[in-house]
Amino acid sequence: MISSEIQIASYLFASILFILSLGGLSSQESAKRGVLYGIVGMIIAVVSTVLGEGVEGHVYIIAAIAIASVIGILVARKVEMTAMPELVAILHSFVGLAAVLVGFGSYLDPTTQSLTGADHSIHLVEIFIGVFIGAITFTGSIVAWGKLQGSIRSKALVYPGRHIVNILLVIGCFVLCFIFLGQSGTEGLLHLGIMTAIASFIGVMLVMAIGGADMPVVVSMLNSYSGWAAAAAGFMLGNDLLIVTGALVGSSGAILSIIMCKAMNRSFLSVIFGGFGSTPQGKMKEVTGEVTSKNHDQVASLLESAKSVVIVPGYGMAVAKAQFPVHEMVNKLKKEGKEVRFGIHPVAGRLPGHMNVLLAEANVPYDIVLEMDEINDDLADTDVVLVIGANDIVNPGAIDDENSPIYGMPVIRVWDAKDVIVMKRSMATGYAGVQNPLFFKENTSMLYGDAKDSVTKINSSLN
Ligand code: TAP
Repeated sequence: MISSEIQIASYLFASILFILSLGGLSSQESAKRGVLYGIVGMIIAVVSTVLGEGVEGHVYIIAAIAIASVIGILVARKVEMTAMPELVAILHSFVGLAAVLVGFGSYLDPTTQSLTGADHSIHLVEIFIGVFIGAITFTGSIVAWGKLQGSIRSKALVYPGRHIVNILLVIGCFVLCFIFLGQSGTEGLLHLGIMTAIASFIGVMLVMAIGGADMPVVVSMLNSYSGWAAAAAGFMLGNDLLIVTGALVGSSGAILSIIMCKAMNRSFLSVIFGGFGSTPQGKMKEVTGEVTSKNHDQVASLLESAKSVVIVPGYGMAVAKAQFPVHEMVNKLKKEGKEVRFGIHPVAGRLPGHMNVLLAEANVPYDIVLEMDEINDDLADTDVVLVIGANDIVNPGAIDDENSPIYGMPVIRVWDAKDVIVMKRSMATGYAGVQNPLFFKENTSMLYGDAKDSVTKINSSLN
């Protein structure tokens, strides 16, 4: 057992480690250190809580931690990088569910029944808000998981008047909160239960109303919600560290969501309130032109004659695990004195920083990996752009077709280059399910096949 003074000091130390962890995660070079700070902080947090005063049933707690750790390790080892967003979404749902359970547990806890006056009212408000946020996070995350996994249609489910319905439901929860506050003992259990059902429904409807192209922001927004749910649980349990940690997750998730909204030219409000006025009504522009294709030898000789090459990777590079042969190709081209750089779209792949992680895994040097805004203006002076397994992030319709579902999303303007090679297996659409006019442009050629296969074959044709 440890005294409350030691516990407070440990909590303070763990909070500092969490802040250092977030700071470390801001760049690739310091990311590993950041993760390490987070792990140490979490170990200190868990140990000092379990050994704290008034905690009973250590055997059960240790057994639960051991079982959960084994499950966590097995799942984390098995999960593919491409399935990471689904895993993150389902983990957020656990935080939401935990906040709901803590809320009900805290309401039924006989020791908190003895609270009176303002203390009692404040505690009830904490419970009500915690359960409300937790339930929205729980069901919203499950829907996000389903959409990312493909078991729920990724298209936005919108119906007229949905915002009014959502607002009325929230007002209904406010009314229930006032009635709940007036109940004595555990008589408010029914009101808490009804509010939980309403909040769960709101969570489902909010995320169902968001289309595939906005899903990355939704995942990061749910990350933020899960942080606020944890902070609310911290208030209910009177645990300062949980409040601090929840606030860190909540605010950093919200900041990331705002940054991503800017990158996708989406309104932040439209995402948190579930597609506020975002769906285009008209017909998309008809695509004209012919699709041409090249084989590996032709692409290799195009690269041989180029002075500058830009590689734009996307989700397909991750699926094919093509980052290793891609790095080999970069080395070959650089040896011949060509300028080779990468252009990374902020939402390429399926999670923030997806492409950067893959390229770092293949030891591609950071200094040739540029962001979309850094590369876009250079593309007009580029000889060849290789689009490897990317689709939505290089769709010109996002710029010139007002009726495209991804209209307004900034894209990498690969078509400005002299020649564009698109490596993918077929003419299939990308994540947003939208036809890509890039494939029909005169300076674009397709190189069909699995990205890893194609790059390996090009490598063997290069000198
Ligand atoms: P996508 O638009 O999804 O396009 C990927 C393309 O890769 C597909 O058209 C597919 O065409 C091709 N592909 C799949 N497997 C391949 C393989 N083995 N070899 C070669 N090509 C393969 O990807 P993107 O351009 O990276 O855009 C990302 C999209 O995902 C955006 O709409 C974004 O909003 C969304 N999203 C992003 C995130 C984050 S945070 N990054 C999270 C969720 C959703 P074929 O089938 O013809 O091969």
